[in-house]
Amino acid sequence: MSTKIFGIDFGTSSLKIYRKGEGLVYDQKSVIAIKGKNNVIAIGNEAFEMYGKSPEYITVDFPLKHGAIASLSHMLSLLNCVFLDLSRQHGKFRGAEFTIATPYDITEVEKRAFYDLVDSSIVRPKKLRLVEKPIADAIGAGIDVNNSQGALLVNIGADTTEISILSMGGIVLGKLLPIGGNQFDDAIAAAVRKKYNLVIGQKTAEYVKRTLTDFSRETERTCKAYGRDIVTGLPREREISAALVNQAVLENLNAIIENIRTILERTPPEIASDVFANGMTITGGSSAIAGLDQLVQATTGLRVSICQKGALTVIEGLTHILEDPEYDALAQPLKESYYNEK
Ligand SMILES: Nc1ncnc2c1ncn2[C@@H]1O[C@H](COP(=O)(O)OP(=O)(O)OP(=O)(O)O)[C@@H](O)[C@H]1O
Ligand SMILES: [Mg+2]
Repeated sequence: MSTKIFGIDFGTSSLKIYRKGEGLVYDQKSVIAIKGKNNVIAIGNEAFEMYGKSPEYITVDFPLKHGAIASLSHMLSLLNCVFLDLSRQHGKFRGAEFTIATPYDITEVEKRAFYDLVDSSIVRPKKLRLVEKPIADAIGAGIDVNNSQGALLVNIGADTTEISILSMGGIVLGKLLPIGGNQFDDAIAAAVRKKYNLVIGQKTAEYVKRTLTDFSRETERTCKAYGRDIVTGLPREREISAALVNQAVLENLNAIIENIRTILERTPPEIASDVFANGMTITGGSSAIAGLDQLVQATTGLRVSICQKGALTVIEGLTHILEDPEYDALAQPLKESYYNEK
């Protein structure tokens, strides 16, 4: 029996699992629905369907927040259910090996929590390694991290933006911001409430964002959104304007751009000159926003390339790390120091 080797990207909005030799075997929302205290009734996309609609006795939870584990018990239940589902298609996981991508800019205790999570799951892995998310992300984005010159990588995901300066296979500077697509959605919902007196749900806000946000041109476009009128308390439909949505998203993007500038100011000059020569790469699901490259280019003066399938660059990079011996050393077992930290 061949060894089962897996890579995991614990995204705040979606959990992605790759199996060596097979490809992406799981890509669903990182959500769990629990009835009562601990009766799991749904996970993944099925649980997400219940989000915002469930009665009080059902908890629908995203156990990851801002790139780290917010609810360990929910995360463990979710992961165990995913492994159970996967073992139906892939056979038992005994003796399996796992490599997990964790953000760079979280504490060692938070990194250890990801390790302990998989270690204590029902699969009881034989071998477990960690890789810094920006390294996997860069490889997935086509940056040759081992030989490359200095590179600036910005992953705009769902609940985080991770800004990283990479050079010679390592991370020189990194910052994880608690800003991503979820915060864009919240800003849109707040703006719609203020302008139209309409309360919209998070899924509606995300739909409006995907439909209208566009920084490549001035647009008069609108889209319909259903919500609750604050004045009458009744359901109502309104036409939402692209200008309002762009402005709400822009406020968050400006905060990200401000942080990119700060990172650049702290970047050692030799690496900074590589970055200015090569430009920056943007990944993550939120990099799909139309005209994002033009906006960031105009405000930073750097050339910007956006990855196709930005939500999958981390898991793509993990694929390369697991399949290409040249990258194998980038994944490491847990450092002793993680256990010594108080
Ligand atoms: N076309 C689009 N336009 C705007 N946003 C989009 C589009 N497609 C996806 N997104 C956003 O991308 C985000 C999901 O991205 P991704 O899968 O990279 O997140 P994640 O890895 O789960 O989260 P994180 O990395 O923050 O932990 C969501 O907020 C989603 O709304
Ligand atoms: Mg991510």
